[in-house]
Amino acid sequence: MIEIRNVSQRFAGPQGWIEALHNVNLTIPPGEVFGIIGRSGAGKSTLVRTINLLTRPTEGDIVVNGRTLTSLSSANLREARREIGMIFQHFNLLSSRTVFDNVALPLELAGMKRPQIEETVLPLLELVGLAAQKDRYPSQISGGQKQRVGIARALASKPKVLLSDEATSALDPETTRAILDLLRKINRELNLTVVMITHQMEVIKQVCDRVAVLDAGRVVETGPVIDVFLQPRHEVTRALLGDVIAQELPPALKARVAERLAKGNGHLLRLAFTGTGVDQPVLSETIRRFELDFNILHGQIDEIQGQAFGSLAVLAGGDPVKVVQAIAWLREQGVVVEELSHVE
Ligand SMILES: Nc1ncnc2c1ncn2[C@@H]1O[C@H](COP(=O)(O)OP(=O)(O)O)[C@@H](O)[C@H]1O
Ligand SMILES: [Mg+2]
Repeated sequence: MIEIRNVSQRFAGPQGWIEALHNVNLTIPPGEVFGIIGRSGAGKSTLVRTINLLTRPTEGDIVVNGRTLTSLSSANLREARREIGMIFQHFNLLSSRTVFDNVALPLELAGMKRPQIEETVLPLLELVGLAAQKDRYPSQISGGQKQRVGIARALASKPKVLLSDEATSALDPETTRAILDLLRKINRELNLTVVMITHQMEVIKQVCDRVAVLDAGRVVETGPVIDVFLQPRHEVTRALLGDVIAQELPPALKARVAERLAKGNGHLLRLAFTGTGVDQPVLSETIRRFELDFNILHGQIDEIQGQAFGSLAVLAGGDPVKVVQAIAWLREQGVVVEELSHVE
């Protein structure tokens, strides 16, 4: 269990104080994959760095597994930190060390003897799928493999918590999926609590149980991932969900949609369904009833935490009054409708 209690963080900036975190309160239950999402500059890295006190918060407390880190002596804090592993966007590997020796580093620093180090490191390399690459150097492996080394190294001291700061942001989509699957597997097999920092809703959708949305240093929304996808409450959350759609649209189509929206010619709607709604012919019914033209831009059926979840982006044209009526009717049918103002 991680508790972030009334945490604020101020930095001295050239024009005065920067309030990077403002009274953040979060409880992360043990064994969860908990996502923290926000735009660049929202305070995500600052928040994750306060969890292991790499940055000490200006105000508030961090409690990890019942221990208040913010009130520990430095010796006790060093020991408590061993229960918290961390992985990074740029992997932070030592180029002069082999895969094996990178994973072994924290154990060497802790004074562990070589036979014991081998006993710990080899199974970890198996777990992350790098046993065959153990004698290679970082320059001889791919980005995804580098992150696997980072994960194995973070697990070497047998932590209970793994912090991940944009760990997949430098990877292509396929490698991202593989790394997220690995993190999910580790979460289940080792019962590790994972805190995932990201700016991508895709990442949240794939692995997280719960998510908190951070904006300008404040938590603006938090809840189970499926709820946040179905009913985003805050404008920033909606914008981040809009990004998922925008990323899927081919550039030429995106430009045409942007042009139509700029002219006030059409409404860009994001429709979300869950459960039975996913396979009902609601859309064709709407088009008939309200005589609209619905241009489907993007559609996807996924599973979030075992529940079917469908999402559609449509450009609705026709009588604006009827568009409004259609939105109300869709909502009555249990479809979540968001109007997006732009596609960037
Ligand atoms: N050590 C620091 N000194 C001064 N300002 C900082 C420091 N670290 C972060 N900030 C500022 O705090 C804000 C949040 O930064 P950060 O946590 O890195 O955001 P994110 O990870 O969400 O992109 C930014 O305005 C950033 O410039
Ligand atoms: Mg960051």
